[in-house]
Amino acid sequence: MPEQQLVLSSDRIQTRITELAARISADYRDKDLVLVGVLNGAFIFLADLCRSLSIPHQVDFIRVASYGDSATTSGTVRLSKDIELDLTGKHVLLVEDIVDTGTTLAWLSRQLSAHRAASVRVCALINKTERRECAVEIDYRGFNLDGFLVGYGLDYAEQYRHLPDIYTLQP
Ligand code: IMP
Ligand code: MG
Repeated sequence: MPEQQLVLSSDRIQTRITELAARISADYRDKDLVLVGVLNGAFIFLADLCRSLSIPHQVDFIRVASYGDSATTSGTVRLSKDIELDLTGKHVLLVEDIVDTGTTLAWLSRQLSAHRAASVRVCALINKTERRECAVEIDYRGFNLDGFLVGYGLDYAEQYRHLPDIYTLQP
């Protein structure tokens, strides 16, 4: 079992989510908001974020795969589950776990432009800056962190997603 080192406690995560949710609730008041969670990594973040919002909204998911079972990006993105709601005229907030190279987010933004949404913005729990390859805008960001992270929805080879806190994984 690789060694894990605590970097974000669940308390810190929840406090930050409350702050992000307050901003999002203010910015989207009186707008038709749809949260689109990027599976699998964002499922826990989205579950907590949506329960902290004080405004009505819809929830849907998209699933992409860009990582295999390794900790390095494959550079290719594949759609494995599309959005099912009609996004025409809706204000979409993409909810991502981590933006690393930016490949996934850049690809998703292109994919979403076909859906005729009124606006598309991004909320990411973690922004990694060291390996950015595609310029992407993150409108609501939780934390800037580097290293390989697990827990709170984040996996390594589909393990560790259930951990309430976030850890760096030391090989
Ligand atoms: P990008 O396309 O390089 O920006 O990679 C984004 C995706 O890779 C994220 O949505 C995550 O699912 C995954 N990812 C990137 N870094 C990590 C990490 O440290 N732990 C777990 N998953 C990660
Ligand atoms: Mg992901």
